[in-house]
Amino acid sequence: MSVVQTVARAPSNIALIKYMGKSDRDSNLPANGSLSLTLRDLCTITEVRRVLRGGSGMAGAAGTGTAVDEVRWIPEAFRHVAAGSVADQMEPVVLSADAIDRVTRHLRRARAACAEIFPAFGLRCHDGASYWEIRSANTFPAASGIASSASSFAALTLATAQACAADPEAFARAWDSDRELHRALARLSRQGSGSSCRSFEGPWVLWRGTDAAALDFSSPDLGAGRMPEMADLVILVESAPKAVSSSQAHQRVQTSPLWAGRPERAEGRLEKMIEALRRGELAAVSRLAWQEAWEMHSLFHTAEEPFTYWRPGTLEILNGLRPFVWPAESGTLSAQPGQVPPIVTLDAGPNVHVLVPATRAPEWRERLRSAFPAWRILEDVQGLGAEGVR
Ligand code: DP6
Repeated sequence: MSVVQTVARAPSNIALIKYMGKSDRDSNLPANGSLSLTLRDLCTITEVRRVLRGGSGMAGAAGTGTAVDEVRWIPEAFRHVAAGSVADQMEPVVLSADAIDRVTRHLRRARAACAEIFPAFGLRCHDGASYWEIRSANTFPAASGIASSASSFAALTLATAQACAADPEAFARAWDSDRELHRALARLSRQGSGSSCRSFEGPWVLWRGTDAAALDFSSPDLGAGRMPEMADLVILVESAPKAVSSSQAHQRVQTSPLWAGRPERAEGRLEKMIEALRRGELAAVSRLAWQEAWEMHSLFHTAEEPFTYWRPGTLEILNGLRPFVWPAESGTLSAQPGQVPPIVTLDAGPNVHVLVPATRAPEWRERLRSAFPAWRILEDVQGLGAEGVR
């Protein structure tokens, strides 16, 4: 009997053009392309512990993946990483029975898929029957309302792949040197939760169809127009669990009369967004992101049975920020002419993300704190995606 223990961390990401509506529900193929900013410190850290039950074999492409496995979700933060530097910020992930089922199914899926994926990278898969344990923790408060399925599934996929590798050093070398391995695992992770495929790279990631990959908007070749390093200030309006999960929302938006034409509109906006990011035009990025977030929430508000994630505070904050994005209008905060506009967006939830150049984050933090003193603000900067913790 031998024990393999692996740990991976994956950050959350925030979409400016949204994945909302699927063209294939079974494998989480999106109705339209999406584009997001990967964060750095708001992340999930997952430990996979694998006990090989004797009779283990190595498998490459011919791996059967049929060995009988038992998979358990352990609802506690783990000692391995909790003993390290991030211990004081860690919150164990709490899951419902359905969510535990989804996570354990994904580990089985990932374990079977690695036998297919690895040979192309010169890696071998450990294919013996095993007992698996999963432990997971977030660096953001459990009740913060921050979407954690992207970071959770990305971290679980990577930790499982590490535990499947017959030679962990060879896996680590391939991970460090070959972006195609990141993409292959992102495709696999997408099948667990769509938005998780955008957490394998960073900072800017485009997901179209089956694949997600980084786009470079900060190359020196882009000259003065390049995108600055960004910070995300998340105003936490409410932290209660969502009444409608994002997986349900993907289905329900298709009952809205506004759904007709939505994938095409989102694709058109995505093209404009990429152009604006390429030119570093923050004012255009800010307006496109605003329109996109409002359109996604309009789909919720006009579904056959309408629903909303907005709370009174959400609207108060959006009204306060509007003059920065659309300067002709008035609001509770005073926008100065020529000020860099924030990028304001929301996921399927009530909390408002305010993205600004990292150098402007202190001034924005103060502005938001004094305008909206009732709510907590989380803060992060852009990051580069999932990684193994060695
Ligand atoms: C509103 O990735 O959580 O955050 O594929 O069903 O797991 P599943 O959905 P999920 O959807 C995220 C939707 C969103 C927008 C986005 O991140 O693009």
